[in-house]
Amino acid sequence: MEQTFLMVKPDGVQRGLVGEIVRRFERKGLKLVAAKLLQVSREQAEKHYEEHYGKDFYDRLIQFITSGPVFAMVWEGDRAIALTRAMIGKTDALEAAPGTIRSDFAVHTNLNLIHGSDSPESAAREIANYFAQDEIVSYEKTVQPWI
Ligand code: PPS
Repeated sequence: MEQTFLMVKPDGVQRGLVGEIVRRFERKGLKLVAAKLLQVSREQAEKHYEEHYGKDFYDRLIQFITSGPVFAMVWEGDRAIALTRAMIGKTDALEAAPGTIRSDFAVHTNLNLIHGSDSPESAAREIANYFAQDEIVSYEKTVQPWI
């Protein structure tokens, strides 16, 4: 069973898309194990995007992710990282496949609504950047065997 970190970015919160986005992952059959609305600090943002330090869009990324509240989540499931990234779609909304979150709701590359971990290592690092261990809930979902 894999865990992944997903975050509705400030544009998604401002546009009232938190419920729509959560709904998609719930209906897919993934399990929500942690969630909270929070304001990302400069320190958290720099840790989150450390691999992009020095890129031309780095400053814009930091400014954007700290510009308003985000909705941070941890989702669990078989192949959760690859599945959620497929549901999110490519970075540029123009290249995102129809039916993905970015294709359905985003216009710009820099306002692309949601972040999803891209590997088990980044998922572990990102979860620890936003959640204390006791904020992640362990429970059984009775519907799970049917998915
Ligand atoms: S890269 O260079 O291939 O690693 O980039 P990518 O994985 O596509 O994106 C890394 C994160 O940077 C965001 N991004 C941008 N933000 C603003 N402007 C531009 N041009 C831009 N290009 C990429 C992208 O959304 C990724 O952030 P997250 O939060 O992971 O979605």
